[in-house]
Order: sequence, then structure tokens, then C-alpha cells
Amino acid sequence: MKITNKINLLTTVWIICILMFINIVVFFLFMKTTVKMEANMMFQQAEDIIKDIRGNTSNHIENELKDYLTSHSYIRMILPNGKTAYEVTNDKFLAEKIKGKFAEEKQADNRMVTINHQEKQVLIIRTPIKQGGQMKGSLEIGEELLGLESRKDILLWILSLCTVLAVILSLLGGRWLSGIIMRPISNMIKTMEDIEQSGVLKKINIQIETKDELETMAKTFNRMIDRLQANMEKQSQFVSDASHELKTPLTIIKSYANLLRRHGLKNKEMANEAIEAIHSEATRIQKMTEHFLDLASLEKDAALEISEVNLISLCQDIQKQMKEAYKREILLQYRDPIILKADELKIKQVIIILLDNAIKYSSSIIEMFLERNEYQIIIRVKDYGIGIPQEEIENIFERFYRVDKARSRETGGSGLGLHIAKRIIKLHKGDITISSKEGVGTEVSIYLPIDR
Ligand SMILES: Nc1ncnc2c1ncn2[C@@H]1O[C@H](COP(=O)(O)OP(=O)(O)OP(=O)(O)O)[C@@H](O)[C@H]1O
Ligand SMILES: [Mg+2]
Repeated sequence: MKITNKINLLTTVWIICILMFINIVVFFLFMKTTVKMEANMMFQQAEDIIKDIRGNTSNHIENELKDYLTSHSYIRMILPNGKTAYEVTNDKFLAEKIKGKFAEEKQADNRMVTINHQEKQVLIIRTPIKQGGQMKGSLEIGEELLGLESRKDILLWILSLCTVLAVILSLLGGRWLSGIIMRPISNMIKTMEDIEQSGVLKKINIQIETKDELETMAKTFNRMIDRLQANMEKQSQFVSDASHELKTPLTIIKSYANLLRRHGLKNKEMANEAIEAIHSEATRIQKMTEHFLDLASLEKDAALEISEVNLISLCQDIQKQMKEAYKREILLQYRDPIILKADELKIKQVIIILLDNAIKYSSSIIEMFLERNEYQIIIRVKDYGIGIPQEEIENIFERFYRVDKARSRETGGSGLGLHIAKRIIKLHKGDITISSKEGVGTEVSIYLPIDR
């Protein structure tokens, strides 16, 4: 069943229940107040009769009582011993059905009586007759509530009509309202179906700002689509950038391989140069693909494997490895032991990326400083090399960005190192900055918050 129909049906059932309850309450209140009003009128009539008959002789009393008869009623006077002193009626059956009863105080009695196989509602009131403080008897008036019957029918009819009208209006209104409410959802479903069928990402058209949950839902959906679109664009950009980057070393390898094929090893010098070039370009491709894999894994599982890392011993290990591999002097400076909560392998990777740059782009000593303050741990890698032009610093973290492509080619860079480093640091909720002066040197600082 459609959600609109469900809402419609449920609200209608609910409205019927409410109306039923209200109808019952209205009906009973109406009956009660009307009977009460009738009874009051009859008591008033009884008072008038008592005043009228006071001091009259018996002959006159019956005649006087007759004047007070309304249609289908009786009036009687009952003595304290229960006997009827006088009785007048214009409905014999009614008077027969209801036995007279002496009452010492005012009484009203509403009951159903069957007369000639017909149910009739009869109101009986009794009021005492006193004279000079002495109880003389009581006056009893019985009257068929004819008006009430017809009024009850009219009321029932009006109530039923109103209920039917309310149900029809509720069904129509419910349809209309649920249509309005469901429109954004239907829009959303249609957009999703379109996306599913065409495979092209599409946003929901928000025509009216309703400032409700549905608008929030549509906006969230659109933001999700934006993100997906951005991710897809990033991915395809990455693929095209990566293939472009791979093209150059592959072209170099191919041309040197061709050279070797044509001239073979005849020219030893040239052959050596070709082999060297092929080797260095192949190494470059290898490094590049390693970086690609790093990036892909950062993309895939952004979750970090956090553990307690002893930063000093980690840096000492790296220092030793790099010193041995590159035969360069790396100075490590720190004061206190530093324990850091981080993904050890990833932090190691960042430090290696920075040292690798410092080694590539400088030729003298490289310094590493490890510090900590109340809020953060700071790792600085400083070199006294070629530096980076001021205007290039802001681009340095971009993928495949290299300051001087020709120069970087000699050093075998792919322009991914700093990009990867920044992403890792961002995952740790930290920051990475570079200050550099061309021809003077570069200092890269990493800030890692202690309380992530
Ligand atoms: N310490 C440094 N001194 C001078 N230039 C630097 C330094 N570090 C980075 N650069 C410049 O920034 C560019 C980007 O650095 P990044 O580490 O991202 O790439 P890369 O070193 O070229 O290649 P790789 O992906 O192999 O690290 C480098 O090409 C270089 O021009
Ligand atoms: Mg690098």
C-alpha cells in the first residue's frame, strides 16, 4: 500500500473514532439537559397547580386539573396512604401503565414504557402538597416526551450527517495533504530511479524552501551527490594525471630501448647511458606506483591504527636507515622523551617523505627537531638546500606538483610525497606547514595535537 494511502486511511479511522466519541458525549449531554429542562418545567407546572387547587372543592379540582393536561399526560393527587385521590388523563393507557406513588419530596423519574407494543419515553415528576406545615399528599404528573423523541431523531440525523461529511472531507483533505507532503519524497524517488537507470548523478530540484525534515533530507541527498560527483571527478582527474605522469618515463624508456635495439651494444658508452636512463626511469615508475598505492590505501581505509608511539626512538631508527642509505648527515635534536598516540607506520612514512625531500633538494646537513608543548607535538625537518620560491609554497601540497619539473626529473620526484604527507597529517587532525627561502633552505613543520 502506498504511504499516502496509509496515512490517509489511518487519519480517517482516527477521525471516525474521535467523532464517535464526541457524538456519544454530545448525545448524552443533550438528552440529560433536555430531560432536566422538561422536568423543571413540569415542577413549575406542579407548583402552579398546587397553588390553584388550594381550598377548592373536589368537583372543581378535577376540572381544574384537566386544564393543565398536555397531550399524552396524566395528573393525579396521591394521599399519604398511597391511594389516589384524584386523577385526570387524556391517555388512558399511559395512566394505567404507571402506578401512582406518594412522595414526601420532589422526585423526577424518566423511564421507557411499552404502550401498544411501542416504546415510549415518559417523564414522571412528584411533588409534595403541604398545607399549614401538614402533609396533605403529593401531586404526580406523567407526560410522554413526544418532543424529545423527535428532537433526538433530528440530533442523531445531524450527528450522522456531520460524521459522514467529516469522513469525506478527511479523506479528500488527507489525499491533498499527503500529496503535498509526499511530493518531495516522490521527487527524490524519481531522481534516484533516474540515477539508477542512467548511471548519471543528479540532484533533487528543491522548488519551495519548506524548512522541514523533508527539505533537510533533500539537501542532504544533494550534498551527498555533490560529494560523489567531486569524488568521481577527483578519481578521473587522478587517473588522467597519473597516466600523464607515467607517460614521460615510459617514453624515455621506450626511446632508449629502441636505441639499444637499433645499435645494440656496439657503442658501449651509449649503451651504458641507455641502461642508466632505463634503470633510473624504471625506478621512478616504481616509486610512483608505490605512491599511487599509498594514496589508494589512504583513500580506501581512512581509519588509523592508533597506538602509543615512542617518537624519539622512531626518529632514531629512521635517522639510522636514511644515514646508511644516502650517506648524509642527519642531526636529531630533542629534549624530553615524547610519547605520541598515532598510527606509527603512517607517521614514519611522513618523516621519510620529508627527509627524502631534504636529501634530494639539499646537499649539506639535515636537522630534525622534536618538541612538545601542552597541546601538541611538533616535528621539524630543516635543510639548507635550494629552497622553494615563495609563490610556489601554496601549491607544494598539490598532487603531482613539482617546483621545477626538469630539476625534479633529475632527482626522480613524482610530486606526490608532500600530498601524501599532508593527507596523513590531516587524518591525525594535525597540520603541516612549510617555510622556505630560495637558496637558503627549507623547514617543514608538523603539528600533531596531543588530545585528538
Ligand atoms: N626540502 C625541499 N627543498 C626544496 N624543494 C622542495 C623541498 N621539498 C619539496 N620541494 C619541492 O616541492 C615539490 C613537491 O614535493 P613532493 O615531495 O611532493 O614531490 P617530489 O619530491 O617531487 O616527488 P616524490 O613524490 O618522490 O616525493 C618537489 O618537487 C620540490 O620541487
Ligand atoms: Mg618528495
